[in-house]
Amino acid sequence: MDGRPWRPSIEISVSARFHWNPDTYLETIRAEVPRFDELQEEAVKAVPFAPDRVLELGIGTGETTRHLLAAHPDAWVVGLDSNSEMVFRLREEYDDIQLARMEDPLPDGPWDLVIAVLSIHHLTDDQKQLLFRRVREHSRALVIGDVVKAEPQVTPIDLATDFPDTAEELAQWCGGEVTWRADDLAVIRASYG
Ligand SMILES: C[S@@+](CC[C@H](N)C(=O)[O-])C[C@H]1O[C@@H](n2cnc3c(N)ncnc32)[C@H](O)[C@@H]1O
Repeated sequence: MDGRPWRPSIEISVSARFHWNPDTYLETIRAEVPRFDELQEEAVKAVPFAPDRVLELGIGTGETTRHLLAAHPDAWVVGLDSNSEMVFRLREEYDDIQLARMEDPLPDGPWDLVIAVLSIHHLTDDQKQLLFRRVREHSRALVIGDVVKAEPQVTPIDLATDFPDTAEELAQWCGGEVTWRADDLAVIRASYG
């Protein structure tokens, strides 16, 4: 980042991606985020201990969940997503998937871990900071894997629905540290005791 106002180098103007279709999600996201699978692996690597109770924000088709459960098979994952198609599809596979928004009060904790991959950037900065305060009160740890402001900016950005920040801003707001970065992707981990 060179101090100039950040603008995405790859910008899309229609919110076509916001309402993800579970049938095409994986193919689309892998095309848009070439290091998608690496991001999932690095997010799970950042989990600081074997968690029992996990809350996943923006669970989508459950890609992060699968990676998490492969590493921590005893974890119980409660997932939420604001997209009803994603939620209804994933309920065929997991018991506890809720139709809910990250910006609303979270399901009752306490949680060992709150994890969010490629979802937090849909919140505005104020919404992110409010969410991080809530998470801090109810969870022992937070792991974020997401698209961030960086060069090269690889991931297409929809200025109407995508609000990435720098990895350092996210780390500062959640009281965490950056554990991995590559291109415009980063993983941030915060431990709250
Ligand atoms: C790019 S997908 C990521 C899904 C999954 N975490 C993964 O890594 O494959 C983003 C998901 O966040 C969900 N989402 C977007 N805004 C949300 C919000 N405000 N509250 C809850 N879920 C949201 C979308 O519906 C979508 O399923």
